[in-house]
This record gives sequence, structure tokens and C-alpha cells, in this order.
Amino acid sequence: MAKQRNIPCTFLLVLVLVKLFSEGVLTVKTEYISAVGDPEMRRDSLRVAIESWNQCNEVGQENPQIGSPRAADCFDIYKVYSPQENSDSCSICNEVPYVLVHRVTEADNKLRTGEPFLGLQPKSQFDIDLYAADKELYLGYKCEVDDTPNPWQFWMIMLKNGNMDTYAGKCPKNGHKVGPFRPDYKAFPCFGHGCMNQPSIYHDYTKLQWPDVTTLKGRFFGSWDLDGDLSRGTVGNISYYSVTWEKKIGEGSWVFHHVLRTSAKYPWLMLYFRSDATHGFSGGYHYSTRGMSKIIPESPNFKVRFTLNVIKGGGPSSQFYLMDMGSCWKNNGTPCDGNVTSDVTRYSEMIINPEITSWCHPEKLDVCPPYHTFSNGTRVHRNDTSRFPYAAYHLHCSPGNAEHLEAPFSLCDPYSNPQPQEIVQILPHPVWGEYGYPTKQGEGWIGDSRTWELDVGRLSQSLYFYQDPGTRPARRRWMSIDLGTEIFKDPDQVAEWTVTDFNILVPN
Ligand SMILES: *[C@@H]1O[C@H](CO)[C@@H](O)[C@H](O)[C@H]1NC(C)=O
Ligand SMILES: *[C@@H]1O[C@H](CO)[C@@H](O)[C@H](O)[C@H]1NC(C)=O
Ligand SMILES: *[C@@H]1O[C@H](CO)[C@@H](O)[C@H](O)[C@H]1NC(C)=O
Ligand SMILES: *[C@@H]1O[C@H](CO)[C@@H](O)[C@H](O)[C@H]1NC(C)=O
Repeated sequence: MAKQRNIPCTFLLVLVLVKLFSEGVLTVKTEYISAVGDPEMRRDSLRVAIESWNQCNEVGQENPQIGSPRAADCFDIYKVYSPQENSDSCSICNEVPYVLVHRVTEADNKLRTGEPFLGLQPKSQFDIDLYAADKELYLGYKCEVDDTPNPWQFWMIMLKNGNMDTYAGKCPKNGHKVGPFRPDYKAFPCFGHGCMNQPSIYHDYTKLQWPDVTTLKGRFFGSWDLDGDLSRGTVGNISYYSVTWEKKIGEGSWVFHHVLRTSAKYPWLMLYFRSDATHGFSGGYHYSTRGMSKIIPESPNFKVRFTLNVIKGGGPSSQFYLMDMGSCWKNNGTPCDGNVTSDVTRYSEMIINPEITSWCHPEKLDVCPPYHTFSNGTRVHRNDTSRFPYAAYHLHCSPGNAEHLEAPFSLCDPYSNPQPQEIVQILPHPVWGEYGYPTKQGEGWIGDSRTWELDVGRLSQSLYFYQDPGTRPARRRWMSIDLGTEIFKDPDQVAEWTVTDFNILVPN
């Protein structure tokens, strides 16, 4: 009876809804917009930069040949003639229909500590680490593109050398300065003095390719083995990296082709393609940054789309990240402010190399997060051996400055970031299928190139990250969204892959 009385009311509601829909007040589907300056990498006038870090995300020592390890390739492309015009008046125009105007000069890219440039702060001029941070801002200023709601600067290629010279005492421990100490060479590879050096950076500025003058191509490449012969490239036994970008004018996406090779002297190397915040800090970097994410994606509402083709995997220790994201918040949930003893870098990564297996086990709970949250919201504690999805986790490690950790726990490497860090590394598993991630080992790996649309926002919202009890949950804003590999202490390995169509989508 109550039901009958409700019918007219429901009918009315339906009428109102129909009216609202027809007026466009309500939309059924969420509308997404791009958070990056160059959605799907379609823009002919490319913006790309490169940065190189040592073990603790600083420069430490400059490579005299290249100066401060920040460089960029940013250009605008102009059409010289249109086909309708009488082409007799300009014969060369037929051959070179476009001109590229580069915005970053060789002199800019070669800037080294001590040399002045516009915007350089006095305190940075003779400090190798601060100089590189300021140089990034300067290159960003030269590359910047106006846009709404914020201007943006470039895609960022990131290199990192994992060697650590413990005798040099260069890297702080959980953000605290520590003196030299005797090395554990298994934990910290180092061949001796100077092992934390920066690589060479060779640069082929983007240009039109002959004879097909509608294809653009450019490249950064180099080696950490400074005495090595680079002309032998990857056939030699030296470390090597190369990122080539190529695109047909007016068509499709840029193709970013990456190669990374480790060597006996440099067994731990990283190469990532990053969409970083355009201002503020980026993941793992405690200086103001420049990048491509004009809107910072925040959990749970964002998606990441791209095509990844893994050509060579990089061996059994290559932690190939289908998705690697970096953020920063303090253990009390407040945003980071640059104080390296209380800021905590938070990373989450899905490793798709099928040779990387789960370290988290019922007998090894210290490297499992305390609980797993299923997509329906149900939480399962890691000691619930019948329900906890151990195989979904490679490892979880906790920040070294956390005061209320649930035992057992494993602390993250205290040296590899300027501040303490927390890492959640996941593996392909059915529990991530709901978010569009691979569910089986081998998916998306060599021979299985795919276009992914990952619900990174919802997945990253569901992951466990440490916070002090009783504090307000942190806003999970991801200043860096990256793809690439970390070859972890394994010499003479080669990884090769391409990335195209990259985009981050956020609700309008
Ligand atoms: C490269 O290194 C491998 C293994 O370390 C060795 O067997 C090989 O002979 C080396 N090749 C050259 C060209 O040095
Ligand atoms: C940095 O954080 C620590 C720990 O919360 C605090 O003791 C210290 O005073 C802070 N430093 C600054 C400069 O705010
Ligand atoms: C949520 O999903 C998990 C795993 O599929 C399942 O075990 C559990 O019963 C579900 N909970 C509810 C409330 O549906
Ligand atoms: C599992 O962990 C929870 C939370 O720490 C605890 O309450 C529970 O007693 C533990 N159960 C077993 C069987 O150890």
C-alpha cells in the first residue's frame, strides 16, 4: 500500500529527471579532460627535457663535458608555404616546407655550475645541486607553453645512477646528514672513487629527416662509463642510454624509443619517461620542478592512457614499471614543504617483468602492507592467510621516520631519496583487474604491446600507505606519473621499449 502511494511521487521524479537531462543539467557519464599539456603526444612542436640524478636524487658531481645535467629540446614548427601558393616563387620551399625554431640553444644546455643565467639565484651559482634545480626552471622558462588552467613546460626523461660511494658520505640517511661509512657492496654498488658520476649527454636536436621532410626526429643519448667508446653503442660492454623521439608532422603520436644498458661498473641504472608537475615539487625531488602535468592528478579520480611496447626486458632484475607514480606527504597527512626530515616520498609501482616475483609471503609479512583493500572496499589483514592476495605484492617498505609501525615491518632504503620514503610495489594479479591493470604475469610484456587505460586514481586510493594513527588521511596528489625501468644491480643487461599516446585524464 505504501508502495502504491509512492507511485505518483516516483513518476514526478522521473519527469523532473527527464527534464533535467534534456536541459543538460545532468550528464550520465563523467566528462574527462586531459591533465597534461600535450594530450596523447600529438603536438608537432615538441617539448622534452632530460635530467640526471645520483643515488640520492642530487647531482653531486658534474660531468665536465656536459655541465649541469639538465637539457631540453623545445621547438616551434612553422609552415613556410601552402600548396595553393605559386611554388615557383620559392623553389627551396618545395623542399623544406617547414621550419623549426628551437627555443633552447646549445649554450643553454651546456650551462655548468658557476655560469650565470637569467633567474639564477646567488646561493645556487656555486652549489652543484642547487644550480641544476635552477637550470631546470630556466629551461622551463624557455620551453613554457601558455595553457589553461596552467602553463606547462616539457616531458621529462629521467636518468638515475644507483651507485653509492659510502666513503664519500654524500647521501643523507632518512633526510639526516651522515658521515662516511664502510660499504656493504651488495647493498651499495661502487667501483671506487667517482662511482656516483653523471653520464655523458649527447644531443641530436630535433630536425626534419631527409628525404622525407615530413618526419621529425631527435635524440638524447650517452653513457656513465666516461672512458667508454660510445661509437660501439650497445654492442660494447659499457653502460648506455638513448631516447629517440620521432613523429610525422600532423599525424599520430610522437614515438619515444628508449634503450638502457647496464655495465659492470654501473649495474644499477634507471630510465624513466615522466609527466611531472609544472610547479612545486615532483616525486622524489625536493626542489621546485617543471613538467607536463598542468593539473596534478589526485586519487581516486584519474586515469592514465598510453601505449607501451616492450622490445627487450632488461634481464631478470629489471623492475619494469608499467606505471610508477610519486607523491609526497608527511606522516601526519599534511603536504610536504621541503623539510627533508619530516617529508616522506611515496611511490607506487606496478612491475610487469614476469621474472620479478612476490617477496611478500605468509612467512615474510614484513614486506607485505598491513592490509589489502579489495575493490569492493573489504579490507583483509595480511595475517589472514586464506584471503590476503600475497602474490599481488612484490614488496611494501615503510618510511624510516614512521613512529607507529605495525610489526613486523621492513624499512625502505634510507639513502636513495633526499628524505625518507615509502614504496608499494605491486605485480599483475586478478585483484587489480577491476582497475584495468594486468591480471596475469606476462601481460603487456615482450611481444604483447598494448594500449592501456589504467584507473590509476582508484587503484592508488585503495593502496595502503602509512600514516600516524588518528590523523586525517592525506590527499593523494601524484606529482609524477612515469613509465620505464630500474635495472637493479645486474650488469650487461639491455632494456628497450617505446611509449606513445600518453595521456592523463581527470574529471572536468
Ligand atoms: C662483455 O661482457 C661479457 C660478460 O661480462 C663477456 O663475456 C664478454 O666477453 C664481454 N664482451 C666484450 C666485447 O668485452
Ligand atoms: C622539520 O621537521 C622536523 C620534524 O617534524 C622538526 O623537528 C623541524 O623543526 C622541522 N624543521 C623546520 C625548519 O621546520
Ligand atoms: C569483496 O570482495 C572480496 C574478494 O573478491 C570477497 O571475498 C568479499 O566477500 C567481498 N565483500 C563483499 C561485502 O562483497
Ligand atoms: C591479525 O592481526 C590483527 C591486527 O593486528 C590482530 O587483531 C589479530 O589478532 C591477528 N590475528 C592472528 C591470527 O594473528
